Amino acid sequence: MVKKRTCIFISGYGSNLRYLINNSRNQNFPIKICLVVSNNKKAKGILYAKKNSIPYLIINTNKRNFENIILKELKKYKISLICLAGYMKIISKKFINAFGKTIINIHPSLLPKFKGLNTFKRVLIDKEKKTGCTVHFVNEKLDSGTNIVQKSFFIDKKDNETMLKNKTQKLEHRAFSEAIIKIFRYN
Ligand code: GAR
Repeated sequence: MVKKRTCIFISGYGSNLRYLINNSRNQNFPIKICLVVSNNKKAKGILYAKKNSIPYLIINTNKRNFENIILKELKKYKISLICLAGYMKIISKKFINAFGKTIINIHPSLLPKFKGLNTFKRVLIDKEKKTGCTVHFVNEKLDSGTNIVQKSFFIDKKDNETMLKNKTQKLEHRAFSEAIIKIFRYN
């Protein structure tokens, strides 16, 4: 199997990155993680890249040409898939077009509900019965591309924001890999 050369974008803890790294060790898993990009030099996720000898790029998004710097690295590492795994920066239309290949994102809500930030807080305020996570293709509009995988759970009356986050992330760790298998297994 020829694995898709993949770059994971992160901003923080990197638990999704960790699961993707573990799964990508399986010879039947369709991606090889060749690069990690972080817009936060303190992101804990960078440690997973280091531990697993995966090249990483820490990018200063205050630089005017930061997207060009990333594009250059993507080219250098022959990347054909980008996974946004907790990358808290909006990807520009120009970047999407220049990359020209698949970009997928994981979002902690049942899209199209609760696009954007503070999802858990809004889920509780709106007294939702269910919540979960979505892996979707990235297009020019925020959290709006076609869904690939969605996983949900029923909200307990006692659930607070932290509990919702923990339950959602547990589902995310399976959903991301399932989405990757779904889109690439037969390619
Ligand atoms: C994940 O829960 C992901 O859904 C969320 O950030 C978290 C990153 O966790 N992404 C967004 O909110 C994007 N809008 P991780 O760093 O432990 O993988």
